[in-house]
Amino acid sequence: MASGKGRKKVTIPDLYKMKRKGETITWLTAYTFPTAHYMEQAGLEMILVGDSASMTIYGNDSTLPITMDTCIGHCQAVRKAAPSVFVLGDMPFLSYHKSTEDAIYNAGRFLKEAGCDGIKLEGGVRIADKVRAIVDAGISVCGHIGLTPQSSAMLGGFKVQGKTAESAKSMIEDALALQEAGAFAILLECVPTPVTKIIHEKLNVLTFGIGAGPHCDGQLLIIHDIVGLYPIFQPKFVKQYANLGADMQNAIEEYMKDCKEKVFPAKEHEFSISREELEKIEQLEI
Ligand code: KIV
Repeated sequence: MASGKGRKKVTIPDLYKMKRKGETITWLTAYTFPTAHYMEQAGLEMILVGDSASMTIYGNDSTLPITMDTCIGHCQAVRKAAPSVFVLGDMPFLSYHKSTEDAIYNAGRFLKEAGCDGIKLEGGVRIADKVRAIVDAGISVCGHIGLTPQSSAMLGGFKVQGKTAESAKSMIEDALALQEAGAFAILLECVPTPVTKIIHEKLNVLTFGIGAGPHCDGQLLIIHDIVGLYPIFQPKFVKQYANLGADMQNAIEEYMKDCKEKVFPAKEHEFSISREELEKIEQLEI
């Protein structure tokens, strides 16, 4: 498949060049071939094949149940549709916690089996050793701090993080530990804008925000949220650009109406055969 803008593949040096120029890097989640196709055509710079697929695609109420194999399958579909986009696979719950060997092996699967450009994982100081080991294996790592959905139970739910001096301090320590461990980028989720600004100014690596305000090198949102395809919940930080859910329901209702009123299928949807062949069929003794 040709890339939408005839663009060569986006690389980490390209992303750093954008940072230096002050050009915002655009990043969305994608899980399927058609969605990634339209992102490629639009010229989006980055895709996250998020473990949020557990909720947006599979209807679970958290990201915890999704497995490595399921995440890899979605990455493969996305990679095929978006050859020029910088694609990160999201390491699911328990795929990097047990041991360093496990973390390297599972991170490597995203590159080896799905052609991803790197991985994202959640946590700061407590997983910095795993980040270092994965980076040493030659795999690009994006850290993820603030609201980390895999540990939302420990954080008291899907809540804004860093609202006290104490929790902001530990978030800053997490960010610095990830940078020190070799992460090329750090994603901040649900963080008050002034805290994001402080972290952004302390770091040399790329910063991305989802619900973290404007002081980042790039912005991330979940595709289902921006196109109106997640009927369960809409976070405050989301801007919705389309209502595909409503469009889909209208299309389904119109299809049902056409079928029931015998308007569909119409002549243009039918297949025909020659009169001669039809006569032969009619004479068959079966
Ligand atoms: O899985 C995901 O989509 C994420 C975002 C919520 C940051 O990790």
